[in-house]
Amino acid sequence: MKIRAVYPGTFDPVTNGHLDLIRRSSALFDDVVVAILRNTDKTPFFSTEERVEMLESVVRELSNVSVTTFEGLLVDFAEQIKASVIVRGIRAVSDYEYELQMALMNRRLSSRVETVFMMPAETYSYLSSRLVKEVSAHGGSVHGLVPALVERRLKRKHGEPA
Ligand code: PNS
Repeated sequence: MKIRAVYPGTFDPVTNGHLDLIRRSSALFDDVVVAILRNTDKTPFFSTEERVEMLESVVRELSNVSVTTFEGLLVDFAEQIKASVIVRGIRAVSDYEYELQMALMNRRLSSRVETVFMMPAETYSYLSSRLVKEVSAHGGSVHGLVPALVERRLKRKHGEPA
C-alpha cells in the first residue's frame, strides 16, 4: 500500500527548516504533497502564487514531492487527495502544545488521517518564517536559513539589490 503524506503550512516564506522536513518526508513516504493554506486571516508577506512558485522551484529535484494549495479543513483536503498522513514539524517543546491540539482535533475530525511529527535538523531548531521576515526587513542576513531564491526574493521585496 502506497502512503501519501500531506505537509501543510503557510510557508511565508519556505525556509531551510521546511525544506529539511520535506526531504525527510520524501525519503519516508511514497509521495508528499506540500499544501499551502489559502485565505487565512493573516495577510501574508508573499502572495499565494509567489509561495507556490518558490516552493515548486526548491522541491524540483525531489521527484515524489508536489506543491499545491488548499482551503477549508486540512483533513477534508487530505481525504480528497487520499493522503493518510499529515506531516508537521516540531522544533522545540514550545511547538508541542499547539501541534498536539491540532493533531488531536484533526484526529477527532477524521480517523482516517494520522499526524506524524518530525524534527528538523538541529541547525534549524530556532528558525521560523516570522523571524526570517523580521531579520530581513531590518537588513539582516538570512543567508543559509532560506533557499537562495527566497533570499533574493526577500531582498527584492525590501528594495535591496538581490
Ligand atoms: O505553517 P502554519 O501556519 O503553522 O500552518 C498551519 C496550518 C495551515 C497547518 C493550519 O492552520 C491548518 O491546518 N489550517 C486549515 C484549517 C483547519 O483544518 N483547521 C483545523 C486544524 S485543527
